[in-house]
Order: sequence, then structure tokens, then C-alpha cells
Amino acid sequence: AKVHVFDHPLIQHKLTFIRKADTGTKEFRELVDEVSTLMAFEITRELPLTEINIQTPVCEATSKVLAGKKLGVVPILRAGIGMVEGILKLIPAAKVGHVGLYRDPETLKPVEYYVKLPSDVSEREFIVVDPMLATGGTAIEAINSLKKRGAVNIKFMCLVAAPEGVELLTKEHPDVDVYIAALDEKLNDKGYIVPGLGDAGDRLFG
Ligand code: PRP
Repeated sequence: AKVHVFDHPLIQHKLTFIRKADTGTKEFRELVDEVSTLMAFEITRELPLTEINIQTPVCEATSKVLAGKKLGVVPILRAGIGMVEGILKLIPAAKVGHVGLYRDPETLKPVEYYVKLPSDVSEREFIVVDPMLATGGTAIEAINSLKKRGAVNIKFMCLVAAPEGVELLTKEHPDVDVYIAALDEKLNDKGYIVPGLGDAGDRLFG
């Protein structure tokens, strides 16, 4: 699996303010939304194009349009929800699936509580989104869930990731490319990303 770290200055700048502990809910939401749009711009860089014939005011011409690959965005509940609108600003025709997983506070193991995907699962290219990839357990389970239901083309996108999570995810799902805004230092003993951004779900929703 390929691992892409987005080094765009606007993404890095906004991420700094997402990380800051004194950034309040309103600003946190806005920044996650903005960074998600910028990340969507980067992740769609390689979408296939096809040529069509058009008429400009000057002449007939051939010009490029998207080849019509169907996209699906799948936020992992809860925190992934905060990234959806920002992505849909660039790909408004994408369908949205939902996968609900929480980490058991004792074992940190992901527990699935909700899955609803668009009907034509096997024909879509999915982007699974979650602000954080910590141990990797949640992302791995979410992707298992999609594959079990027939998804074959999957990417994973997050804001911050711990090296441990990236390693486990790419090992368990070598076919899934991973797109992150920042690769952080480590996990602490509570399974939080260091330096990270805290608990994204709590900071977005309370
Ligand atoms: C957080 C985060 C990821 C998960 C990452 O969710 O949004 O989904 O933890 O951890 P992992 O890589 O170690 O599995 P949380 O369990 O806090 O749920 P929430 O989004 O509903 O708040």
C-alpha cells in the first residue's frame, strides 16, 4: 500500500490550529471542514479523465471530463462526519456510506454498531475518512466491513496518524492506499496520538 503525507502549506497551516488545545468547537469544525476540502483536492488528483467533443464560442474542440468513476465517501462515526461536507464541496455527486465504530474504553478494541452503504457497493471507489488513525483498529474494522459487503476499491484518508496505526493498517489491507495530513510521533499508553489533536469526536461534537 502507498502512504501519502500531504505537505501542502495550507493543509499544514490549518492543521496546526486544529491541534491547538485552545481552538474552540466552532473554529475546530470550520478548520476540519477546510482541511478536508484541501485533502479531497489532493486525493482526486489521479481520477481518470476522458475526452468529449464540445463547441466553444470560437470552434469545435475536444476537452477533458471525469471518466465517470462513481465515488463514495464513508465517514467512520462519529468523528469522520466532520470531514464529509468539506469533501462533498469538491465531489458533490459522491454517495455517502456510514460505518459506526467505537473503541471499547477498556480494551481499545473497535466495536461496530452501525453500517449503511450505497447499494452499488462493488462499482464504487470509496474514500473512508476519519480524523484520526491511532492503533489502526477502527480503520481496519471499517474497511473489513466494506469489503465484507463487496467493496473492492478503497482508500483511507485521515488528518493525523500514529506510525503504529499506519503500519498495522497497511499490513492488514495492503490494497488500501493511505492519505494523511501529518504522520505523528507515537501513541501514548492510553492509545492517544502524540502530539495529535486530542479526541476529534469530542472536539467536534462534545
Ligand atoms: C476515535 C477516532 C477513530 C479512532 C481511532 O474514535 O475518531 O475512529 O478513535 O482509534 P484506533 O485507530 O486506535 O482504532 P472514538 O473511538 O473516540 O469514537 P468517536 O469518533 O465516536 O468519538
